[in-house]
Amino acid sequence: MLICHCNIITEREIEQTIVGLLDQDPWQLIVPAKVYHAMMKRGRCCGCFPNVVETIIRVTEEYHARSETGATDVVSHLDRVRALRDQFGRKLNERRSTSHRAA
Ligand code: FES
Repeated sequence: MLICHCNIITEREIEQTIVGLLDQDPWQLIVPAKVYHAMMKRGRCCGCFPNVVETIIRVTEEYHARSETGATDVVSHLDRVRALRDQFGRKLNERRSTSHRAA
């Protein structure tokens, strides 16, 4: 499935990049800009970033579920990621207020 229409990036490519970053450091905080930087791409309209955040959360949960880390560490880390989504993702969804969205 195509996630980023501006850069033609598929969900699979994003998942592989996230896993690569987690292999380097399983406890780093991964944000969409870091994923795109690793892919040598950059956000243009950034409308795909909310979906990338959801992909980061899902892949990170699956990655740590497969590893032998403690469940409390995973929950703590993902709570931080979710807090960032609440702080930045929903209020500034595509940097447009809801009254200016077509869909
Ligand atoms: S859809 Fe990804 S930067 Fe525009």
